[in-house]
Amino acid sequence: MASVREPLLEARGVVKQFGHVQALQGADFTAYAGEVVALIGDNGAGKSTLVNVLSGVITPDAGEVRLAGRRVRFTGPADAQRHGVETVYQDLSMAPDLDAAANLYLGREILRRGVLGRLGVLDRPAMRRAAAGAFAELGVTLKDITAPVATLSGGQRQSVAVARAVAFANNVIFMDEPTAALGVVQRARVLETIRRVADRGICVVLISHNMPEVLSVSDRIEVLRLGRRVASFHAAYTTIEELVGAMTGSLDRGLETFAATGSTRAWNAEVAR
Ligand SMILES: Nc1ncnc2c1ncn2[C@@H]1O[C@H](COP(=O)(O)OP(=O)(O)OP(=O)(O)O)[C@@H](O)[C@H]1O
Ligand SMILES: [Mg+2]
Repeated sequence: MASVREPLLEARGVVKQFGHVQALQGADFTAYAGEVVALIGDNGAGKSTLVNVLSGVITPDAGEVRLAGRRVRFTGPADAQRHGVETVYQDLSMAPDLDAAANLYLGREILRRGVLGRLGVLDRPAMRRAAAGAFAELGVTLKDITAPVATLSGGQRQSVAVARAVAFANNVIFMDEPTAALGVVQRARVLETIRRVADRGICVVLISHNMPEVLSVSDRIEVLRLGRRVASFHAAYTTIEELVGAMTGSLDRGLETFAATGSTRAWNAEVAR
């Protein structure tokens, strides 16, 4: 008997308007625990806006967000984080002068009791031990964990950002273009990390314009166009041509017909889950 999996994270009919720009026009999104799901679409399709809605950065004008079957209304990113939802931003938002461990715990420092038993002294050894463990678990190798992150390579910094999200996420991690600035080797490292995280049961939502990367690392792919989800694919059963067709709209006719008959690979994939 086929088992029906509950989505871990869902957006239903999300609308978001900026002035007269309709960034999201009733967007849907579905993600399951333990999968890497890519969110793709042309520039301006609404990907970052949708992620901002799903991670509590902005409040939608209409529609709903559901986490583990329950409707949630995040009051901000910190509220989303309390629900196990982390985001790796493209700018990485790191403190360049601090070391990797300090960056890992930025804003969530481990404190210990200082003189007179007052809580409030940073427990650097504890943070370094925990950070070293987190990096090792992700296969991240840093020569010197005490070096300021400004001295790390782009790939290492990216890995620190990923490690930070991974250390605190227990439900969902959003990654908006996490490999955009990386070389081949670093890119492979980050992708391996993404895969490993998903294998731990966490849902990784990857935004990327790199189609080979999307196909190699994701389990599923959701396509946004003009503020709406227009298709959903299983990575194993689709091609770059099909993805580009869905993004640009040249597949529309086919998708509509198939959606009506339920016989496309794309919509089949969605139904078959
Ligand atoms: N804060 C904002 N103010 C006004 N318009 C915005 C704002 N944020 C996004 N938009 C508009 O909403 C639409 C969707 O933007 P969004 O950033 O979500 O696209 P995207 O899919 O992430 O694109 P890209 O691939 O270029 O990053 C665009 O037309 C954009 O100009
Ligand atoms: Mg964007």
